[in-house]
Amino acid sequence: MSPVKPKSSVKEHFPTRLRGLETIASLVSSAQETPEPISTEVQGIIPSWINGRLLRNGPGKFEFGNTHYNHWFDGMAMLHQFKMEKGQVTYMSRFLQSDAYRKNSEKDRIVMSEFGTLAMPDPCKNFFQNFLSRFEKIEATDNASVGFVKYKGDYYVSTETNFMHRVNPENLETVEKVDWSMFIAVNGATAHPHYDPDGTTYNMGNSYGHKGALYNIIRVPPEKTDTKDTLQGAKVLCSIVPANKSHPSYYHSFAMSENYVVFIEQPIKMDLLKIVTCRLRGKALSEGIYWDPKQETVFHLVDKHTGKVSPVKYHTKPISTFHQINAFEEDGFLMLDMCCSDDGQAINNYLIQNLRKSGDALDEVYNTMCRSFPRRFVLPLNVTSETPSDQNLNTQTSSKATCVKVCKDKVFCQHEDLHGDDLYEYGGLEFPQINYGKYNTQPYRYFYGCGFRHLVGDSLLKMDLKDKMFKVWHQKGFYPSEPVFVPSPEAVEEDDGVILSVVLSPTQDKGTFLLVLDAKTLEELGRANVPVNIPYGFHVYTEKGHTLQIHAIFILICYKFLCSQKTVFIVNAVTACLSTFENLFCFTTWIHPQ
Ligand SMILES: [Fe+2]
Repeated sequence: MSPVKPKSSVKEHFPTRLRGLETIASLVSSAQETPEPISTEVQGIIPSWINGRLLRNGPGKFEFGNTHYNHWFDGMAMLHQFKMEKGQVTYMSRFLQSDAYRKNSEKDRIVMSEFGTLAMPDPCKNFFQNFLSRFEKIEATDNASVGFVKYKGDYYVSTETNFMHRVNPENLETVEKVDWSMFIAVNGATAHPHYDPDGTTYNMGNSYGHKGALYNIIRVPPEKTDTKDTLQGAKVLCSIVPANKSHPSYYHSFAMSENYVVFIEQPIKMDLLKIVTCRLRGKALSEGIYWDPKQETVFHLVDKHTGKVSPVKYHTKPISTFHQINAFEEDGFLMLDMCCSDDGQAINNYLIQNLRKSGDALDEVYNTMCRSFPRRFVLPLNVTSETPSDQNLNTQTSSKATCVKVCKDKVFCQHEDLHGDDLYEYGGLEFPQINYGKYNTQPYRYFYGCGFRHLVGDSLLKMDLKDKMFKVWHQKGFYPSEPVFVPSPEAVEEDDGVILSVVLSPTQDKGTFLLVLDAKTLEELGRANVPVNIPYGFHVYTEKGHTLQIHAIFILICYKFLCSQKTVFIVNAVTACLSTFENLFCFTTWIHPQ
């Protein structure tokens, strides 16, 4: 693989073109579960103070019988556990026993639609029955393949629909299916909640009611009132009206500082009409998602304590973002750091057939995709009618980002790059992680992530915000997943600890290992070789409908309303489609011993 200079016609966001990319088809192939813990072979030294479990979630099964998924995000959730104790590591994995997984397995074909896959009618049905099945209701998937999240001390796996599953982190067994909509009026929640130090959890989710689509900020209390508690006590802190109610933005996550939730309304839009009618039209849900570069990105600030939405809106150019790095308040400004792309169409390229390409075709997929880079935005918190217009309000000498009041309640922001030109050679950075336990919502110096000289991460990076220099771990032919920072027991400095990452190889059978790096130097301390293959993938879902005639009428009425632009309505299909995005990435969680 050799870097070549970009052509003059190549836009800034396609800074590095590559040739000769290695095929990674085996990384997006189905795997067998390992339901009982197995030993690993440790090379080097894994510090004996690391005692706990690394949990990972992602798609692990891409076909049932003769049917197969189209999009990487559609695969069935596979849960992985690396248990580390006294320098030794065991590994186990289980498929999430979701309704989607069980129904697909029972029929030995895909009977539930997912983000990029529309389930085909039962081949045993006659023509008329097949026709009617196009009017069946699409239900949100419970294939929670995105990540592990924590509410009230319990572990759940989540996607972006209204369904989560509580799981036992010790044996990865599926315990209980939980429905957000049974507790609050939302049709889903992201798989990236934020946590206050006391355990209070914040999240976001859309609702689709008679007032149209709304973005909702959610707060879940830290304590259980009963041992059977799940989401009891959850509240909608506030709701934000989309710029276009029938085309709300897709969001994968949000940012949080000490006092504010920051919602990023980006130009990745959901065409609710297309989503609602996808089965009728015989199209996958993913076709209702589109990038609209004519629209600016808007930051909405919500006071965490009062739920009040700031009347001041912070605009910037069209960007897409999946993961934020950190946000903190300093001297009357909110510093917002996140990974951004200047193009939001990448989601459509993560088809399984693209990921399994080779040669020039694979290079072409990569070279037409926009890379993601870390950027800082500086948002002035005290904007009033007295605030002068048309001048840079950023008085923080630590950042070159600008923010200008352009009219009443509108500030336009220009970012500062949190990197030098050398990051272009590593394909940008995604899957950002920080020392979350001590530095989330606080000023910080370091973040970690994956470099992307391939469609999946091919290096691990540690960025130092002091001088924007970074350290790299890279081994040719190996592909590391999201890095997780684990602080050492006597940690004093921000980077006292280790980085853990699951590393895969597409060419070596059973070439998987858990990598342990010194977080200060990014040098390898040790690795645990796992004698099984682990995929790099994701999941999907759909459930067959109920009373056909009723749903046919329902769909047609909704279609009429939407065409007249008079209303939008509740559609689980919307949230079903959202789940797919998250699957872009496999997520890891570190659990300290009890
Ligand atoms: Fe994510």
